[in-house]
Amino acid sequence: MTTGLFRPDGPAKLTGAATYAGDTPKPDALHAALVLSTVPLGRLAAVDVPAVDGVHAVFTHENLPRLNRMPMPPLGHTVLGLRDDEIHFEGQPIAIVLADTPQRAQHAAERTTARYVDVAEPLAFADAGETRQETGVWVPVDYGGGDVDAGLAAADAVVSQRYTTSDRHANPIEPWSVLAWWSGDGLVVHASVQTITMTQRTLAELFGLRPEQVRVVSPFVGGGFGSKAWMWPPIPLAAAAAKAAGRPVKLVLTRAQMFTLCGHQPATRQTVSVGATGDGRLTAFRQHFTAATARFDGYLEGGTGPLSWLYDCPAIETRVRAGLTDRPNPTPMRAPAEGIGLFGVECALDELAYRLDLDPVELRLRNEPPVEPLTGKPFSSRKLVECLREGARRFGWADRDPSPRSMRDGDEFVGWGMAVATRETVRAASAARLRVHADGRVVVETGLQEIGTGMPALVRAVVAEALEVAPGQVELRHGDSTLPEASPSIGSMSAMSVGAAVRAAADEVREKLAAVGGLAGLRDAGLDTVEVEGRWDPPEGEDEYSTKSYGAIFAEVRVDADLGLVRMPRAVGVFAAGRILNPATAHSQLTGGMIWGYGQALLERSVLDRGRFLAKNLAGYVVPVNADIGDLDVSFVDEFDEHASPLGAKGVGELGAIGVAPAIANAVFHATGKRVRGLPIRIEDLLTTSAR
Ligand code: MOS
Repeated sequence: MTTGLFRPDGPAKLTGAATYAGDTPKPDALHAALVLSTVPLGRLAAVDVPAVDGVHAVFTHENLPRLNRMPMPPLGHTVLGLRDDEIHFEGQPIAIVLADTPQRAQHAAERTTARYVDVAEPLAFADAGETRQETGVWVPVDYGGGDVDAGLAAADAVVSQRYTTSDRHANPIEPWSVLAWWSGDGLVVHASVQTITMTQRTLAELFGLRPEQVRVVSPFVGGGFGSKAWMWPPIPLAAAAAKAAGRPVKLVLTRAQMFTLCGHQPATRQTVSVGATGDGRLTAFRQHFTAATARFDGYLEGGTGPLSWLYDCPAIETRVRAGLTDRPNPTPMRAPAEGIGLFGVECALDELAYRLDLDPVELRLRNEPPVEPLTGKPFSSRKLVECLREGARRFGWADRDPSPRSMRDGDEFVGWGMAVATRETVRAASAARLRVHADGRVVVETGLQEIGTGMPALVRAVVAEALEVAPGQVELRHGDSTLPEASPSIGSMSAMSVGAAVRAAADEVREKLAAVGGLAGLRDAGLDTVEVEGRWDPPEGEDEYSTKSYGAIFAEVRVDADLGLVRMPRAVGVFAAGRILNPATAHSQLTGGMIWGYGQALLERSVLDRGRFLAKNLAGYVVPVNADIGDLDVSFVDEFDEHASPLGAKGVGELGAIGVAPAIANAVFHATGKRVRGLPIRIEDLLTTSAR
C-alpha cells in the first residue's frame, strides 16, 4: 500500500484547468513557427519564405536584433540560431515566422526553403577520436588511486569488456512552449522550464537586462527529464521576435523539433576492467568512458562517478573523454552520468560473478566499503546492503539457478538479473514564504515549477506535519519568479531543497503563533496573519560526508526462444533515499524511473546518420507504453539522512532510472547465455540464441 498525499493539482491537470505555457491566453499574441536547417554543417546563403496569408513577420539572422552571447553556465546551446550564417547542426533554427494563427505560421515555415553553401560532411561518433577537454565548463575529472595494473595481474578472475549506449531523447509529453511579451523595458515569459530562476537570469544576460526586469511564469510543466533544464533556443528566439515585432509571441515546438533543439543523451562507449580474488574481493577497477558531444558546444556526459564510492577496491582508475562530432549539443537526460556509466560497471560485475562462480548479490556484499574507498570520507547514510537483502527477499532471488538457460517456460527462456543503483546528491538554495491567516488558512508561496513530480502534494505534506493542520487547509502559490526563489527541478534536488525551506518557514510560524497564543490569540490581538520567509542554503564547499542515494534492482525477463523478443513480466526496486517525505509521489517517481530504465534497456535508440537523427517522431524512436510494463514492485528502506538535508531526505527522481538497464541485460544473459554489451538490447542481438 502506498501512503501519503496524492496530487491536489491532479483534478486541474486532468480537466485541462491547469494552465501550461502554451495554453496561456493572450489575445493579441502572434503565433510563431521555427524553420530549421536541413543540413548538418555549412553556411546559410538564402532563405526564401513564400507569401502566405496572415504572416506578419519573418526574421532570420539578417534582420533579428542580435542577443548577447549565451552565458556559461547555465549552459544548453550557445548556438541559439539566427545570429549568423553558420550552420552547426541539422535542426538549427534559421528563421522564425510570425503569423496570426499557429496553422498559418506552421504552413509558411514548412514551405520555406533555404540555400546552403560550404556544406560539409559531418563527423560521426564511430569515427571520432577521444579528446581530453582541458578548458571550458565541461572539464572531466579523471581520478583514481592504487596500482590498477598490479591489481589486475594479482586477480584470480578478470573481466575486461567494452560496453556501449545509444543516443536517446527525453521526449516529455509537453513540448517546449513559450509565450513572451515586452512591457516597457521588461520581459514577461510564460514557459515550460525546469528552473524559473536560471531562466530569469539567463534571459537577463541575453537581453542586457537586470534580473528583476524579467518575469518568468511556469506553474505547470509537462515533464522535462533534463530537456528543459537549461536555456535552449525557443525562449530567447520568441522573446527576441516579440521585441522586434512589438507584439506578444507564442511558440510551441513540434515533436520533431524537440529532437534537435533541447539536447539529447549522447551515445557512449566505455571499457571496464575489473579483477577479484577467488573469494570475491575486488583487486582493481578501471573505467574508461567516452561520450559523444557536439564540436561547437561540447557538453560532456560523465559516467565514472560511482567508482569513487560504490565498492571497496584498493586500485581504481577512471577516465572521461569527449568524442567530438557534428550534432546538436547533448544535455543531461534522466538519468545522466550514473544511469549510463553503471551499465558497464554493473554488467562487468555480473560477468565477474560468473567467472568466480559467486552469486552476484554476494559479490556486491563482499565489497561493501566502510568509508569511501579513495577519500576515506564517511557515508552520511548508506543502506545499500539493506536494499540488496530486501530486494532479493521480495524477488525470491534465493530460488535462482545461476546457470544460463536453466530456467525455461515453454517457448520462453526465463532469466533473473540484478544490479545496483546509486546517485549523487545535489541540492540548491530555496526559499518559501508562509502565512497563517486568523481563520486558519495556511498559504505557502514559493517559486517552484511543478514538473509532474508532485511538489504541490509534497509541500502540503511538509506543512501539514509541521503545523499539525489538515493538508487541505494548505494553499500553495508557485511557479513565478516574483515569488521566493526555489530550487530547480533538476537532478532530484527539488523535494529536499524546497521541502527544507518550507519546513524552516513552518517551524518559525509555529513559534510565532505560539508566542501570541495561537489562532485565538491572533484574533484577539486584532491581527489577520502571521507571515515569515524561510530559507535553506545547502552547506557550501567540499562535503565532509559522502552523500549518495542507493537502490537494488532485480528483474525477470522472458525471451522468446525463436524470435529473440524480450519481455519483462516483473521487477523489484528497493531504494534508500533518506526520509521519504511523501510516499505516494516518491513511489510514482521511482516507478516512472524504472519504466524509463526499461526504455533504455530494450527500446530507445536514436540513429544519427551523417549528422541527422533519422526518426524525429515516436514511431521511429520508441519508448515504453503501458503494455510493455509488467509488475513493478517499488519499496523503500527506512532511512533518515541528517547530513543530506534538514528533513532527512535525499533525492528520488533520477535514482529509479539507474540500474534497471544492467539488471535487464544481466537477466537476458541468465535467460539466454548471450551477453549483450550494447544498449538497447534488440531482437537482432538475440536471434541466434534459438534453442531449436
Ligand atoms: Mo533530470 S536529467 O533534470 O531528469
